[in-house]
Amino acid sequence: MAAEIKHPGQIRKAPENFLDPQLLREIHEQGLDDKRRRFLRQSFLMASAASAVSSTSMSFANEVGTEGGENSAAGDPNILVLPSHSTTLGKPVAQAGYGQPSRHEHTILKRASPGLTRTQEASASFTPLQALFGIITPNGLHFERHHQGWHDIPPETHRLMIHGLVKTAMIFTLDDLMRLPSVSRIHFLECGANTAMEWGHPSVPTVQYTHGMLSCCEFTGVPLSVLLDYCGYDKQRSRFVLAEGADGSSLTRTIPIEHALDDVLVAWGMNGEMLRPENGYPLRLVAPGMQGVSWVKWLRRIEVGDQPWGTKDESIQYIDLMPDGSHRQYTSIQECKSVITSPSGGQQLLNKGMFNITGLAWSGRGKIKKVDVSVDGGRHWRSARLEGPIQNKALTRFNIDWVWDGSEVILQSRAVDETGYVQPSIDQLRKVRGSRSTYHNNAIQSWQINASGEVLNVQAY
Ligand code: MTE
Repeated sequence: MAAEIKHPGQIRKAPENFLDPQLLREIHEQGLDDKRRRFLRQSFLMASAASAVSSTSMSFANEVGTEGGENSAAGDPNILVLPSHSTTLGKPVAQAGYGQPSRHEHTILKRASPGLTRTQEASASFTPLQALFGIITPNGLHFERHHQGWHDIPPETHRLMIHGLVKTAMIFTLDDLMRLPSVSRIHFLECGANTAMEWGHPSVPTVQYTHGMLSCCEFTGVPLSVLLDYCGYDKQRSRFVLAEGADGSSLTRTIPIEHALDDVLVAWGMNGEMLRPENGYPLRLVAPGMQGVSWVKWLRRIEVGDQPWGTKDESIQYIDLMPDGSHRQYTSIQECKSVITSPSGGQQLLNKGMFNITGLAWSGRGKIKKVDVSVDGGRHWRSARLEGPIQNKALTRFNIDWVWDGSEVILQSRAVDETGYVQPSIDQLRKVRGSRSTYHNNAIQSWQINASGEVLNVQAY
């Protein structure tokens, strides 16, 4: 009889293609209704069943070695036989090129969202949080949210105008801006509509779709305060700035002057290179802690004023529909939130034993102070380890060890920020906000692991 290699718990990645392309097209065109929700859940379960079959062969593959043998790895051809890559010449160094991920990682992609998409231009694609480590989002996997498509704008002709309540209205080229004192800072960027599908509508199956309008990058640019000083903004009367993008949607957002002077950047750099066109090349506003819509891309104009503008992007969208039918406007700060990214929806635990539960926490009001994790649906909580350095308005990675005994469990994480704000449960949030909202859902997320090891999103059930 073969001896089993001792190894900690294994997790099968989410089968990324479990959504039927036809169904996805329909969801994109018509949104999610109850019928589609059932169908979605069914195809998800079928895909999980398929994973369960292959997980059997995976356990078998680990049963190697000889009966009673001391070396449990004996007989494993992956150890004993030298592979061709150890005995042949490798590929030549790139003469000129841009590095790409391994072809074995080809399923790790940003993906368009079921349910949220109206047209391919006014759309969103989500970051695969389940596949990332640490806190930095690789540029190629940064989510995209456009109101009217994206452009690759030539930097030579792009201009930024600053006007309004300033002594001297000025027009800057990119070169002008890059001569000014710049800074690089790590911040999270979260769309105000992230987690929209979990408000009580039918929910979506994986963390990529529930929380993937979230990223964290090192941004480089010039502080907006430097530019406002340069133009001589009116210190008595200035109360707000308006930022405008150069795309067809002319997206515009009002930002209070205290934020503008505090940590807002006019940025050209993202993770050490120029912004990607989809993310605002050549210039975007970085508005730390504020919802994504305030991070105006393809930034072309900043106006200084003494009252909010109430533009279309702040009176029809990105407002909170309250239970009494009223709307809350300018709720721009992203409140403290966290989510377990592994194990998470669509993944599968292949065997009992030890696992690392890991996830991300963030707050638009500062640093993360604490993250607690529950494996019994919120009855008991244990403090997770936070990976340092913990940074202001940036993602914080948390980890906690856990031994799965094979029974059904519900995993949750709950973050607390430095202001003492505690991330609410979905019931607490619904009590205040109802369930007809689209924006600003920062509730604790629940993943159920059933006895077969399948991880399911049970938030809306
Ligand atoms: N800026 C412009 N000019 N046009 C847009 O459509 N989308 C906003 C914001 N800035 C948008 C924009 C929204 S809603 C979000 S969430 C973020 O950009 C998304 O940034 P990303 O596409 O770089 O992820």
